Amino acid sequence: MGFPVNNQSTNHQLLSKIATNDGHGENSSYFDGWKAYERDPFHPTRNPNGVIQMGLAENQLCHDLIQEWIKKNPEASICTAEGVNEFKAIANFQDYHGLPSFRQGLAKFMEKVRGGRVRFNPDRIVMSGGATGAQELIAFCLADPGDAFLIPTPYYPGFDRDFRWRTGVQLLPIHCKSTNKFKITIDALESAYDDARKANIKVKGILLTNPSNPLGTSMDRETLESVITFINTKRIHLVCDELFAGTTFANPKFIGVSEIIQDNKNCDPNLIHIVYSLSKVLGLPGFRVGVVYSYNDQVVACGRKMSSFGLVSTQTQHFLASILSDDEFTTKFLAESARRLAKRHQVFTSGLDKMGIRCLESNAGLFCWMDLSSLLKEKTREEEIKLWRVIINEVKLNVSPGTSFHCGEPGWFRVCFANIDDETMEIALRRIKSFVGGSNINIAVRVQAKKKNWHATSLRLSLSKRFEDMAILSPHIVMSPHSPLIHTTT
Ligand SMILES: Cc1ncc(COP(=O)(O)O)c(C=O)c1O
Repeated sequence: MGFPVNNQSTNHQLLSKIATNDGHGENSSYFDGWKAYERDPFHPTRNPNGVIQMGLAENQLCHDLIQEWIKKNPEASICTAEGVNEFKAIANFQDYHGLPSFRQGLAKFMEKVRGGRVRFNPDRIVMSGGATGAQELIAFCLADPGDAFLIPTPYYPGFDRDFRWRTGVQLLPIHCKSTNKFKITIDALESAYDDARKANIKVKGILLTNPSNPLGTSMDRETLESVITFINTKRIHLVCDELFAGTTFANPKFIGVSEIIQDNKNCDPNLIHIVYSLSKVLGLPGFRVGVVYSYNDQVVACGRKMSSFGLVSTQTQHFLASILSDDEFTTKFLAESARRLAKRHQVFTSGLDKMGIRCLESNAGLFCWMDLSSLLKEKTREEEIKLWRVIINEVKLNVSPGTSFHCGEPGWFRVCFANIDDETMEIALRRIKSFVGGSNINIAVRVQAKKKNWHATSLRLSLSKRFEDMAILSPHIVMSPHSPLIHTTT
């Protein structure tokens, strides 16, 4: 006698719908790229032909600054001789409003990131496990299963998991186009709203990411104002994910929603909610520090109750309270981080430019939005995915295809540039160069000229069966315990 075999159909009976549905989005090309990296990670000496990870939006350019600060401030940690006296109080603290000093430090930091032009009230900060947790928390507070939020495309693939998966809330696209640099237009907004209404779907709000992941652009005042007018007219919410605010490295300066509503007396603040986290600008995704900052008292109260499911550990709060309240350090950090990001962005995009590869002009973020549409045999999603498979399997770069960001136009790819060192970036550029076949040559022309060669080497874009086979990555690949899929980092 034994138990039935643990296969998918018995699991469907034993487990919940959430446990057995596909809503996490793990089987998308976005996550498949990570799996390819996991199986064959690049290392300069141990695995120089491995996959370079350019699919991870992390700021690893400034960790040295934080390490220096830690050395100078050993009392910030309860795990040092200098800080151990605070151990008992911190270990016992369990108020899920969070340490007041932490919320004050965070409010101050959020103000600084916005050039001091707005004030944040620490009492409106609700904690969660990263922005991932914050997105889910706000979705739970604002919408019921089946309700929808409108979201401009392309958008961060993690939203399908964070905002949608366990809440049952739908995300409906506002289609944006490259012809106006993927800016939201009122026509696109109205049409997404009308389509939802025609389908009898209740629209509860709009979810914006500003600055955008994957575009690396920030929204202009006029567009933000028109979105605010729209949500006020329709009486729906606006959730602004402003995670990348502090990664702005060039003009125009970042303008957040808080700045707009401060000057706009016609806006009902009860409809406005900001999602923030320290994962991006400070490069601390492992600390899992995320917040909802809501202007709605009821959302703050309800969010606090929910936040007990995903609090930030007091040890982390205590440490961050010290670093965030060090005004001199945070000012220097933000300036230096912007300088390093600007430099990295410039070197990377000008390297691409020399090969004839264009990126969307950007001013923020840890990535660029690269246009490889001229390499596509046909402008279809299928061709984009074929090209992406060549890039992953032959060029050995994990970049993320636009399709995984729900981009309506085939041929765009997100390439992260701040999670690798200078040497690795140079190697990545060299690989791209040998892939596209040399500098100063229009890619489309080059592709034609090279087509024969590519046939010979199987590097052609009308891909051979060999590519198809090796590129279809099994969703069941066994992941190492260090996989970012197992952790929540994205
Ligand atoms: C736009 C956006 N929101 C949320 C997240 C999740 O961030 P966190 O690591 O704080 O959970 C990410 C991560 O890449 C992101 O890009």
